[in-house]
Formats: sequence, C-alpha cells, structure tokens
Amino acid sequence: MIKKWWHDKVAYQIYPKSFYDSNGDGIGDIPGIISKLNYLQDLGVDIVWLSPCYQSPLADQGYDISDYYNIDPRFGTMEDMERLIAEAKKRNMYILMDLVVNHCSDEHEWFRKACENPDGKYGNFFYLRDKKDGELPTNWRSYFGGPVWEDLPGTDKQYLHVFHKKQPDLNWENPELREEVYKNINWWLDKGLGGFRIDAIINIKKALPFRNYAPDRDDGLCSIHAMLQEAKGIGEFLGEMRDRTFKKYDAFAVGEVFNEKPEEIPDFIGDDGYFSSMFDFNETIFGKSGKGWYDARPVTPDDYKKCCFESQAKVGEFGFLSNIIENHDEPRGVSHYIPEGDCCEESKKMLAALNFMLRGLPFIYQGQELGMENVPFTSIEEVDDISSHDEYKVALEAGLSPEEALKAVSKFSRDNARTPMQWSDEANAGFTTGTPWLKVNPNYTSINAAEQMKNPESVWNFYKKLIALRKDPAYKETIVYGALEPVWEERHNLMAYYRKGEKTLLVVGNYQRETQEIVLPGGHRKVLLNNYGDVAEDNGKIRLYGYQVLIFEM
Ligand code: GLC
Ligand code: CA
Repeated sequence: MIKKWWHDKVAYQIYPKSFYDSNGDGIGDIPGIISKLNYLQDLGVDIVWLSPCYQSPLADQGYDISDYYNIDPRFGTMEDMERLIAEAKKRNMYILMDLVVNHCSDEHEWFRKACENPDGKYGNFFYLRDKKDGELPTNWRSYFGGPVWEDLPGTDKQYLHVFHKKQPDLNWENPELREEVYKNINWWLDKGLGGFRIDAIINIKKALPFRNYAPDRDDGLCSIHAMLQEAKGIGEFLGEMRDRTFKKYDAFAVGEVFNEKPEEIPDFIGDDGYFSSMFDFNETIFGKSGKGWYDARPVTPDDYKKCCFESQAKVGEFGFLSNIIENHDEPRGVSHYIPEGDCCEESKKMLAALNFMLRGLPFIYQGQELGMENVPFTSIEEVDDISSHDEYKVALEAGLSPEEALKAVSKFSRDNARTPMQWSDEANAGFTTGTPWLKVNPNYTSINAAEQMKNPESVWNFYKKLIALRKDPAYKETIVYGALEPVWEERHNLMAYYRKGEKTLLVVGNYQRETQEIVLPGGHRKVLLNNYGDVAEDNGKIRLYGYQVLIFEM
C-alpha cells in the first residue's frame, strides 16, 4: 500500500452555521472558525472539513449551492476563506471543503438559464422531462419526501431532484457539466485547499432510461435506492473526476458513499481508488427502516460491535475507512450508541476510544469532543431541518400521535447535531452575543469547552489523549497501519480488538453498566489509556468497571 500524507492525520468536521459567530448575527461564520483554530490545534486536529459555506439560499443549510465560486455573505467573504486556508497552513492544518455536485440550487444561474431555454445548453445540465397530465415521469420518492419531479418554472417540462425541490440534480451524463465541475474543483485546489468531502456522490449515476419501480409505501412511490441499485458505471465518472482533479494535486478526497458492493471497495479506496477514503456508515444505517425514522430500532452494544468489525473485515488493509460516531446528518453518537439511561462521562469516553482506535481515519464532529448530547425538543416548531419535518409527517401518517411522532423524530433529527457548539456556560453557550439561529441545548451549563479544558478528567481531555496516542512516535505505526483483529467476539457487551503492527495493542471496552471479567493471555506491558483511575487486576484477571475502556500495550 502506498503511504499518503493523510493516513496518520486526525480530522474534524465543522458545521459553520453552528460553530462560532464572530459578529453577533446568530450565525456561525468563517472569521469565527479562524478564531478557533488554536482550539483545534490544541486538541491535535490536522484536517478540518467545513460543511458548505458557498453562496446558497440555505434551503438545505448550504447543500444547495447557487454559486460555486463564492462564499455566502452570512459566512463571510472570499478573503476570509483565503485567510482561513493560510492560517490553517501556518499551523500545519489542512482545510477541506464540501463538494456538493450531485445537485445545485434552483437559484443557480445554470438552472435559471435552463428555465429560460430548456432546449438550450443549460437544459442539458439537468434531467428534464416533458410534463404529462396526471402522470409523473417516474414514481421515485425524494430523500426528503414526495415525488422527485417538480415543474420547471415557465415551461412545459419537469425536472428531477432526488433531494429537496430546491436541489435540482445535475446531469453527469453531459460532458459539458462534468467539465464545469472539474474546473471548479481545480479552482479551489489552486487556492491551497487540502481536498474535499464529497457529498451524496452515489446519486450522480442514474439508471437510464428512467422507469418506475415497485412502490414501497402507501404513497405509491419507491425509494431512490431501487433506481440506484440498477445504475451501473459510476466508476467512469469517479475515475475521470479523480484523474482530472484530486490526483494532480495529491489532494485528500473522502466520499459519502452508502451502497457500495464489497467487491467494489478497492475501486473506491484502494491504491489509486476514486477517493482517498470513504465514511463507514455501517453503524449509522443499522436499525433504520424503509418505513421511516419512527420505525427504526435501537443499536445495542453487540450490534455496534458487529457493525464495526464487519466494516473492518470488508476493508482489511488495502484502504482506509473514515470512522465517525456522528456527523451533521445524524443524532449525537453518545445519545445513539449508548444504551438509554447510561450516557455518562465513562461511557462517552469508552465509545470514543472504541471508535478512535479502529483502523482508519478518525473524524470528530464538532462538540463530539465534549460529549455533546441530543436535544430535548419540546415541539416540532423548534426543529429547523427539512428532513425532520418530513419524517414527522410520515410518522403521523403511520398513525402515531403527535407526541409519539415528536419523540421518534427527536431521536434522529439532524438538528441534534446542528445546535450551536457549546463553548462556555455564558449566555447562548458562548456561541453568539446575538440570538442563535437554532436553539442551544440547555445542558450547555454543564457540558462546555471552557469547563472541560480546565478539567483533566473531562471527555475533552480524553479525546486529546486519544489523539496524542495516535501521534506518539512509539505507537503511530501500529495505530495507523496495524491490522485489526477482533477478540472475544462472542462475548456479550464486550468489544475488544488487537491492533497489530510494530507493536501489539489491545483495546477493550466493557459496554455495560455491570462489571465483567477478562483474562489477558500472557499479561500486558503497559496501560496506555484508561477512563478510570485504576485497573482492578488480580493475578492476570481484570475486573472491568462499568463502561471501562482500556488500551494495553501487550
Ligand atoms: C448529504 C449531506 C446532507 C444533505 C444531502 C444533500 O447527505 O450530508 O446534509 O442534505 O447530502 O446534499
Ligand atoms: Ca455571524
């Protein structure tokens, strides 16, 4: 395997709107990010991925771009962005932007021109079909609910949008469109970006010609996945994109890939893969239901372990997954993966270590390093996210009461992760001096960065130790490149694995409140990390405390 500059790095995702507001308008911004670079450096972060801050009507919080060459004034200016890249560089950090090119915004110039002349050049930038009375071109359901077809304003045509109607899909079959995309990527890379996180990319290849699939809900529509299953040949687009852009710059590219088949993984992330890495969503999607969020089942500790090990086994040592416990589309990991009632400092640290020590690139989502939790929403009116509103409707239609629907949606709402970053116990968690665009989680008085940075036993300091361990010259090779080998796989509520490289490390997490015992074959040399003050060891036997996690050098 060819060694790359990003293999030994630690990445951090920023959701700009909710990170830090520098001018009191209630919206996080790029100058705010710059002012927190030292905070990130102190933690040990090397790569910073920014969710979109391009010009956008923010219908889907920036994942609907109206100008790929500009920064939205709410987030700052191009000069701010250039300064961010330069300031990061001074600290040996890399900035990644979000590449959102499955779709643009219906306010993008291309789309406006397509409306003016659907048969002209820009009509072919989108998927347009003639409008027929009482019949849609296909019966696909958009990710955010309702059909994927919408009238193209001022014409007798309809356009395709697999996400929101303000996010028209771009036609990747058209080479002119692809040229525009590559030109933009290279323009940004020329500014000194480290690379991109690549949004929703599996959707760029459609199964042509379009057809209907069997409906899977009472609305008579079918999930987009039915069509994606059938779409062949995405590799041609992705390979071309790699060759024309990332490869020339040795840039880092991490893909949001959901439906890859095991035999395709080397094409995606092997040496000379389409991407440098892709996210592991095996845990994320576990328990979800085709019916909607209301029908999802919880992830147990044994499920969590199984999902992680499955992904590790699939990738082995030929590439790198990017490991997450949460992102801006998911609930907070500590609320989702720790059994209800057990979310505490110890269990948060255990989850952190179990995830962080997996083979792959660790990504931390803003606030994860503080153990930020889901939000107690008291009304659907408090929720901003478009997909949460759709899922609420779906739950009501399935017969749930408004209270039950809110409860179900609250568990998964994307807004759980989008509430303002909790910097301190001052007003609005120190995020803004104005009125925050989204309500602050009321627990900021006890969970905040200022307090945790002072407290050596905090979740924040535990993350800092995990990062330092990954960078420690004595262990780096093993943690970055070493093989992963599960141990005691069949044991209930115990997740343990070896990392084997120059050294042998053992990571053990007692994923329950009750104690349990392990026996280390051949003892150990050293305890490298412990979320308790001691190890209850007697004659080679170790009694693990509730949610204790230990990293041993063997
Ligand atoms: C990705 C993003 C999500 C967005 C969607 C459409 O899944 O992570 O936030 O809504 O793509 O761009
Ligand atoms: Ca602001």
